[in-house]
Amino acid sequence: MTAAHTLAVEGLTLGYGDRTVIESLDLLVPPGQVTAVIGANACGKSTLLRSMSRLLAPKKGHVLLDGKEVHRMPPKQLARTLGLLPQSPVAPEGITVADLVGRGRHPHQRLLARWNADDDAAVAAALDATETAGLAERSVDELSGGQRQRVWIAMALAQQTDLLLLDEPTTFLDVSHQVEVLDLLTDLNRSRGTTIVMVLHDLNLAGRYADHLVAMADGKILAAGTPAEVLTEDTVRAVYGLENRVITDPASGKPLVLPLGRHHVLA
Ligand SMILES: Nc1ncnc2c1ncn2[C@@H]1O[C@H](COP(=O)(O)OP(=O)(O)OP(=O)(O)O)[C@@H](O)[C@H]1O
Ligand SMILES: [Mg+2]
Repeated sequence: MTAAHTLAVEGLTLGYGDRTVIESLDLLVPPGQVTAVIGANACGKSTLLRSMSRLLAPKKGHVLLDGKEVHRMPPKQLARTLGLLPQSPVAPEGITVADLVGRGRHPHQRLLARWNADDDAAVAAALDATETAGLAERSVDELSGGQRQRVWIAMALAQQTDLLLLDEPTTFLDVSHQVEVLDLLTDLNRSRGTTIVMVLHDLNLAGRYADHLVAMADGKILAAGTPAEVLTEDTVRAVYGLENRVITDPASGKPLVLPLGRHHVLA
């Protein structure tokens, strides 16, 4: 098991130019657990994750990793502990899958030190886990959306960080690959104690896979807690403005949200 790191956000205000997206937000990421962040489009989920991984400087407040400000840490040092898979990562043109996944090893390489057997093993394990080994020599540009997403996940895994932030890791994936990726992240959490924070739009997968749920609306945290505490009809209505019913998932015993609409109502 890895040492559990604490990642906390205190009084964080974020925005772009004059616009404030998140104001005075506090959040403690439970160490060694899987946290899912849910919320409507544009509520600030990606903005929060980017700031937690040092890519967006706070207007006010702090992001603290083990009590130290991430925005004051050297990027490479932070990247050995905390990895981010952004929502829409951009690959250098023409790069192969193997080279892209290999870039996940960058934080571990010292100046002038050569690529070593640990790097090879980490890349091979990441390709294997994401079933992308067969794509290793292909150019990332020519992959399908789902293949490319799995390659980005492989790159994040190759970084072998104790904390992993993933912004919509299941986008573009078919249902079986979604479950596979979430199973894989669960394995990583259970076997290595990796702390995981992921943005998910699928409430039912979020309810199944997360220990801790954070529901955001308009740059604020509306509810946080276990899936049973957060995935209630009232909270889902408040977060998304959506009529819904919550029943029990027969496979996990967790809440299962049935979205309703004008054409589908329940008696
Ligand atoms: N680079 C940027 N410059 C200016 N405004 C931005 C930028 N990135 C995001 N925003 C704005 O900040 C707000 C929050 O965006 P953010 O990407 O954090 O939302 P999100 O919750 O991740 O949404 P989604 O579910 O659609 O990914 C939105 O109004 C968005 O238009
Ligand atoms: Mg987003």
